[in-house]
Amino acid sequence: PRPLIIDCDPGVDDCMALFAAAASPEFDLMAVCTVAGNVRVETCTANALGALALAGRGDVPVYSGCQTPLSVEPVFADHIHGESGLGCAVLPPPQRGAEPVDAVSWLIETLRTADTPLTLAITGPATNLATALMEAPDITAGIAEIVVMGGADLEGGNITPHAEFNVYADPHAAQIVLACGRPITVIGLDTTLQLRCTPARMDRLRAIGSPAAHAGWDMMAHVNAIYGEIYGAEGAALHDPCVILYLLRPDLFTAEPARIAALTEGEMRGHSSVTRGSPDANAVWTTGIDAEAAFDLLLERIARL
Ligand code: BDR
Ligand code: CA
Repeated sequence: PRPLIIDCDPGVDDCMALFAAAASPEFDLMAVCTVAGNVRVETCTANALGALALAGRGDVPVYSGCQTPLSVEPVFADHIHGESGLGCAVLPPPQRGAEPVDAVSWLIETLRTADTPLTLAITGPATNLATALMEAPDITAGIAEIVVMGGADLEGGNITPHAEFNVYADPHAAQIVLACGRPITVIGLDTTLQLRCTPARMDRLRAIGSPAAHAGWDMMAHVNAIYGEIYGAEGAALHDPCVILYLLRPDLFTAEPARIAALTEGEMRGHSSVTRGSPDANAVWTTGIDAEAAFDLLLERIARL
């Protein structure tokens, strides 16, 4: 199995991503790191522990990470994810706490000493990895691949007209990670808005009948209700699971090399400038997803829990 570290801010769709990863034998899920994003980092950490416990993976260590972005003032998305970050879902109390080491220190130590380079899935603001890269630039040798949910090109933003939340929340961190020189795939709103939790898909999720599936339904129902006026019957997007689905089945996505930069200042803060086909490509930018097959895969994984 591929050694995988998930860096996240759960968050309803982060929890769906955690469920999918926890259920996938293709991964050796080494650890989950948390970062301030959708809600405060303490809440994200509790949610990650709860989601892993519900997924039967209470053995996976959770490292709590950065409480604030590198330079900008914190922004949260509890208006979307609810005060708890979990919508209407209530997760079982975690059986254990977070590890005594912070996420940045753990990332530095782990990436420095890795026998084989590791895969990083980032589904929140990129503050933890960016901080680690600034403190210890040599850790790039321990990174095989980074897959990140963030940004928007043809689609407008979701937190400002120009910016997607994860990039907006810490644009300086996004820029550092994008420039780190390791293989990086960026899955932005152009792709994730194609994977929706429609009523028919919500019914399929509920029909699984397990505690994890019920929790997932309760989370997505909350976001669907909030987005109802905007998206109607299409349902809200399953942004973060796309990262795990990409790692499992990249063939379900269309993608092309691109030069991607995160704008850090002013009205365009958090905008990702995506130049497809650039000779200076620093990333792979996904452009589309086979949503039906991707949702089938997500459901098949959640059904294993
Ligand atoms: C991203 O922002 C967060 O609210 C979601 O969890 C996802 O990672 C989508 O823009
Ligand atoms: Ca997230």
